[in-house]
Amino acid sequence: MTLNQIARRLRLAVPLYLALTAGSALAAPELPKLVTKDGRHALMVDGKPFLMLAGQAHNSSNYPAALPKVWQALKDAKANTLEMPIAWEQIEPQEGKFDFSFLDTLVKEARENDIRLVIVWFGTWKNTGPGYLPEWVKFDNGRFPRMKDKDGKNVYSHSPFGEQTLAADRNAFVKMMERIRQIDVNHRTVILVQVENEVGTYGFARDYGARAQAAFNAPVPSAVTARQKPKKASSGTWTQVYGDYAEQYFHSWAIASYIESIAKAGRAVYDLPMFVNNALREPSLDGKPAEPWKGNFASGGPTYDVLDIYKAAAPHIDFAAPDIYMPESNKVTAILKSFKRADNPLMIPEMGNAAGYARYVYQAFGMGALGVAPFGLDYAEYSNYPLGSRFTDKRMVEPFAKVFGVFAPIGRQWAQWAFEGRTYGVAEGDDRAAQTVDMQGWKATVSFREFQFGERQYLKDKNEYQSGTEQPSGGVAFAQIGANEFVIVGQQARIKLSGIGANDGKPSMLARVEEGRFDASGKWIMERNWNGDQTDYGLNLPATPTVLKVKLGTYKD
Ligand code: DGJ
Repeated sequence: MTLNQIARRLRLAVPLYLALTAGSALAAPELPKLVTKDGRHALMVDGKPFLMLAGQAHNSSNYPAALPKVWQALKDAKANTLEMPIAWEQIEPQEGKFDFSFLDTLVKEARENDIRLVIVWFGTWKNTGPGYLPEWVKFDNGRFPRMKDKDGKNVYSHSPFGEQTLAADRNAFVKMMERIRQIDVNHRTVILVQVENEVGTYGFARDYGARAQAAFNAPVPSAVTARQKPKKASSGTWTQVYGDYAEQYFHSWAIASYIESIAKAGRAVYDLPMFVNNALREPSLDGKPAEPWKGNFASGGPTYDVLDIYKAAAPHIDFAAPDIYMPESNKVTAILKSFKRADNPLMIPEMGNAAGYARYVYQAFGMGALGVAPFGLDYAEYSNYPLGSRFTDKRMVEPFAKVFGVFAPIGRQWAQWAFEGRTYGVAEGDDRAAQTVDMQGWKATVSFREFQFGERQYLKDKNEYQSGTEQPSGGVAFAQIGANEFVIVGQQARIKLSGIGANDGKPSMLARVEEGRFDASGKWIMERNWNGDQTDYGLNLPATPTVLKVKLGTYKD
């Protein structure tokens, strides 16, 4: 190469190099955010809808030494997101002295493992209690008051009227958010933050301390009455407006206001989406309104009946989310329905990690959930059975790995379809009965424990069931990608499609039933076309999660 040629190459290469590096310096990925359109929601990560195939680590896995067992479990589960607690006692063991070494390690290792993070802030309340308060807060009940009972005695849980507790918690949270911004602004590994953990109080409807009492006897703020329908009078004190519900509603407002102050300050330094999680009360199975609190759940938490109070008091909280530890299918369905709202994206930040819960992932993603996280997706030798699995090894992860595995390559696409209102989902009920799903122009009838070949009604002498179906494990999620076209993912179920609406009464048949997969770029790779025995008795999805691309057609009588 002559000197001239070298010079010419350099002249071309240098501007190109500068353009590229300048581009990368400018191109910090977009801040994660929640978007809502037509009552549906998407969590935007790097500017596109993201589906959280998540797991939450055990409570005490928030130390570097515990992380290898967490990463391994997530990898085996085919998860893309980790929910990890960061505790106040851990980051501020002495007042004003902060230690972010674990947070730094966590974020760095998450990137190395290609995992996004949801930070779970264990502050004033962790499962309603003070376990994760720094010692200097825990035992100084003068400066950081506990709630009072009716006799003026201290209650285990801290008061939402503790001004100094709020100031100190908020300060620590803001410091944490500053640190996250500092280490993550160019990566966006952290995509979501949970503020406090399962708030509310067991055994006490509210705080009876002097400040709380004064607020209880003051008028209900109009922002609350504008959203949470008054029960007795349109204005007045909590008792005048809400009667028997007054104490629970008041406590919800007090805690939500406390959380709002923390979330607002945190978002002012780094504006990540934020949410609260809920230790559930029993869902309503008959559609009847919730009864007043009777000691039967943690009063003041974001239970489904007070979501409007949380919306009124905590506008910097994007959503309230259910922690699902009720395995019964009718309850899970009621819970999902009550938290999925036009003003409240559905997301499941905790769910039992026992095998029976895995089928609910299909239902939740079909309903447009932003993410699902089995709790304790972590090989720490700790099992929270009977809430979750007895196993602490691969046997615990396996049922979720199967389901996450089919969603993983289409996560972004699925989240986009959900945002467009194209998705539907079912999970096998405890009654094992068939269920129907009405879509645009087509109805799916999903049945369970069928033979793959033949109809049970003509095989009455055959009473046996396929092995592996002893417990309910079926689930199907549908995405309607065209007028007559569906992507169907599922396991252990039979699907039959028939015309409704515009197709009602028209004879129809399957055009194609392609089994295949989406590659990493989202391109459909057909592996085979089902026909004959494989479609004569419906689309029979085996135990192995299967992805089908189905096209139907109608014809004239
Ligand atoms: C719900 C809590 O939010 C979690 O931190 C954990 O305590 C589970 N319950 C039980 O393992």
